[in-house]
Amino acid sequence: MTERVRVPIDLGERSYEVVVGERLLEHSADILSPIVAGRRVFVVTDEVVRARHLHRLAPVLGEVASGYETVLIPLGERTKSFAQLEVLLNRLLDLGMDRRSVLLALGGGVVGDVAGFAAALFMRGVDFVQVPTTLMSQVDSAVGGKNAINTRHGKNLIGTFHQPRAVLNDVTVLHSLPRRELVAGYGEIVKYGLIRGERVFSWLEQHGPAALALDEQAPQQALIEAVRMGCETKGDIVAADERDQGRRAIINLGHTFAHAIETEVGYGALLHGEAVAAGLAAAAALSAKLGYCETALVERLRRHLGAVGLPERIAALATQRNWDPAALMAHMAHDKKTVGGRVAFVLLRGVGEPFVDNTVPEAAVLTVLAEECSRHNADTRR
Ligand SMILES: NC(=O)c1ccc[n+]([C@@H]2O[C@H](COP(=O)([O-])OP(=O)(O)OC[C@H]3O[C@@H](n4cnc5c(N)ncnc54)[C@H](O)[C@@H]3O)[C@@H](O)[C@H]2O)c1
Ligand SMILES: [Zn+2]
Repeated sequence: MTERVRVPIDLGERSYEVVVGERLLEHSADILSPIVAGRRVFVVTDEVVRARHLHRLAPVLGEVASGYETVLIPLGERTKSFAQLEVLLNRLLDLGMDRRSVLLALGGGVVGDVAGFAAALFMRGVDFVQVPTTLMSQVDSAVGGKNAINTRHGKNLIGTFHQPRAVLNDVTVLHSLPRRELVAGYGEIVKYGLIRGERVFSWLEQHGPAALALDEQAPQQALIEAVRMGCETKGDIVAADERDQGRRAIINLGHTFAHAIETEVGYGALLHGEAVAAGLAAAAALSAKLGYCETALVERLRRHLGAVGLPERIAALATQRNWDPAALMAHMAHDKKTVGGRVAFVLLRGVGEPFVDNTVPEAAVLTVLAEECSRHNADTRR
């Protein structure tokens, strides 16, 4: 048996395990059997993931389920819509899915979000399994039970909480992921390292590049450990605040900046994890500017981001634009995380010491944004 580790997500009667390992798709009968034995499974996936990975999981489903069907949804973020949700739900009804059936999401965060939402709605909720296939979805979207679609009012505003019964994180599926998607997903792992503390963050500094090297011949211990740590961190935060009432907010470290960056460039121009990386640097720089942490922490974070190929500041993002700090500031003011008129930032007192601050003066944010957006700063660092 190949190496695998288990991360318990502790949510009372909704508890489940995230299993992380190599070649789990082929070796998941023991994990899936208690959930799907004697039941029909409906696999929701997209054409890219179906072509590359469904044949690996299919024999297991053939063995343990009473039958399975595959439903393809279109590629890309636009699939997270009311229209596509309706198409999917009708397709599942056409195929004879019932309340005892199990929905299985095989794909990235888009597939996981649409399938998870469908699982929550179908006959008021059916069992759901996540088999995430991007690094981003393995450490973030597949864990925690949130799902959402987009509307013309913004991203992820309509959704539910519906926990999966299990999450299967097979790191070997990441071999087929475009390098840029893989590295972007690591941006969320850096975030978890900053939240967790010195031991984890220095482990990432030492092993992060190796984790991302994806040598098919070598065991993937570093990658398995990085994914395990990410899931454990997200799981702990979710367990403390399943329905996002407040404590889950520290998970948004770097994201106030990241969302402003994404809004400014338009969705699709940058990958979310790239915006998160630049956002983490900005959050650290803001923390230092306000005297909460040492500037050495900011430099250290930038070095690690650079070492794995992530942007270490806004100006280093892969777009040719001249960034306008005031425009980014305006997007933040519209962010849904605004509390009482002030923008809420997750800041750092140090590695492992995140906290939410909604008293940050606008002038400090603008100063930091101007520095992070400056090409001069970016160039002199190289
Ligand atoms: N629900 C949550 O808590 C939560 C959290 C974070 C992000 N999200 C959502 O997740 C989405 C982003 O997810 P994502 O980053 O996984 O992107 P994605 O789902 O768009 O996948 C990116 C691309 O990679 C392809 N792909 C997936 N796995 C592959 C593989 N193994 N090999 C080759 N290609 C593969 C997909 O077909 C897709 O074209 C966003 O919509 C975001 O809002 C949700
Ligand atoms: Zn994120």
